[in-house]
Amino acid sequence: MDFELQSLRLADAAARKSPALMVLVADGFAGGEDALSALIARTVASGDFKTEAGAQLFVYGAAGIVPERVVLAGIGDGSPARVRKAVGTAMGALRGGPAKAVTLCFAQPAEADALRAAVLALADASYTYSATKSKPNDKKEPPRIGKAVLGVPEPGPLREALQQAVAVARGVELAREWANRPGNHATPTLLADAARQLGKLPRIGCEVLGPKEVARLGMGAFQAVAQGSRQELRFIVLRYDGAPRSQAPVVLVGKGITFDTGGISIKPAPEMDEMKFDMSGAASVLGVFRALAELRPALNVVGLIPACENMPDGGAIKPGDVVTSMSGQTIEILNTDAEGRLVLCDALTYAERFKPCAVIDIATLTGACVIALGGVRSGMFASDDALAQALQSAGEQALDPCWRMPLDDEYGEALKSNFADVGNVGGRPAGAVTAAKFLQRFADKFSWAHLDIAGTAWKGGSAKGATGRPVGLLVHYLLMQAGRPVKAGGEPTKRAKTKGQAGARAGKGGKA
Ligand code: BES
Ligand code: MN
Ligand code: ZN
Repeated sequence: MDFELQSLRLADAAARKSPALMVLVADGFAGGEDALSALIARTVASGDFKTEAGAQLFVYGAAGIVPERVVLAGIGDGSPARVRKAVGTAMGALRGGPAKAVTLCFAQPAEADALRAAVLALADASYTYSATKSKPNDKKEPPRIGKAVLGVPEPGPLREALQQAVAVARGVELAREWANRPGNHATPTLLADAARQLGKLPRIGCEVLGPKEVARLGMGAFQAVAQGSRQELRFIVLRYDGAPRSQAPVVLVGKGITFDTGGISIKPAPEMDEMKFDMSGAASVLGVFRALAELRPALNVVGLIPACENMPDGGAIKPGDVVTSMSGQTIEILNTDAEGRLVLCDALTYAERFKPCAVIDIATLTGACVIALGGVRSGMFASDDALAQALQSAGEQALDPCWRMPLDDEYGEALKSNFADVGNVGGRPAGAVTAAKFLQRFADKFSWAHLDIAGTAWKGGSAKGATGRPVGLLVHYLLMQAGRPVKAGGEPTKRAKTKGQAGARAGKGGKA
């Protein structure tokens, strides 16, 4: 979706040609003398339209108003969450119709975070998946709303917020697109190609390792998962260089299981198709890099994606097999379906070479996390309080929330093995925590956090599809670390060049 910010008051919006006009109305609306204000006041007074979030009224062909269709959408107290909900609902009303563009106006002055929420909701509603449909432009499919004009009385102070929100929206869209693609259209090789495409953007570099290089690195745990598949594994290394090389990077590690059958510990058939989403962590890393290319914040970021399939096969790993990870620790694979932690642990060890200020892994890791937190908040685990706090507040800001979970040492006891240094599963109790405890064994050289997005990365049922989470959370976190994004199109600022390491803020003992 294309976005444009314009200086528009309600009276201007009513006089401007547009296929559809969406007006967000907060509690206590008191408009001016113009036709649109009068219309809103009348609908509120009559009780036909309420300003509570989610309430809406569709008005067609109103006198004195140029746009044919007007949707009044209540946003209650005007909070970002309510704005997002209202815009989502109103877009639902417009989406089936003929309008291909929409003008969105706030009836009252809008804050930056409300504008950001509106942009995210517009972009969310305008995304359609078409990659594997034979006729993407089939007449039966409603036309896409491809353009949004955001009208505010004073656009000046909101330009930066718009630019940020649009960059996040593009990142979210890329993440959704890759996560949605079926396993046979999003193989490790194709994911690597997508990363290479990103590598062509300014300040982004990409390197892809194949089976030979991964073997040479000694990534025995990652290799073990991949060995049951005919698809070759790929280890993707992305770099975003927005600050001097001397500045320690943030490393993002995304689980890239392009399909998870469970392997020999095979999963039951119902809903197994949803395991194509098991590379949502990887997709979110791609999305973050897409956003970084646009925002150009003054920091360094590395993205690592171990990508492979988890398949049952004559050559596949078996329960009881013991493998040696890159760290040297041996792992007894008690359940081949706990494969995410096996590919991630080697990527975490690989992350050490970057001397990072923080490492965040993002993974659709456990069904247990879905049971614990559902689809509202991602599970967040962190070895560092400052990092935990930063991620928590980034999530709130981005409307992409997470919730901190515990890492007490006692949880790690479930992973004891009689035949290796560690087993790859604990029992059923606290399954999301024992998975995190497994990862923590490979993350003792840096400040580390783990986001379990098993519940938040996609929706099931009739709305089945990827959400693009937690791209918003991660981009907000990174912008916070950078202090302030560099202006789009510009070079890194002097401030960026002279500033100390991001670790001073993100790392141990720092204040977030
Ligand atoms: N990709 C799954 C986790 C998952 C399951 C995410 C369902 C979303 C919905 C992961 O690889 C997995 O299979 N985990 C197992 C771990 C268990 C064997 C300890 C799980 O959660 O059942
Ligand atoms: Mn699995
Ligand atoms: Zn998995």
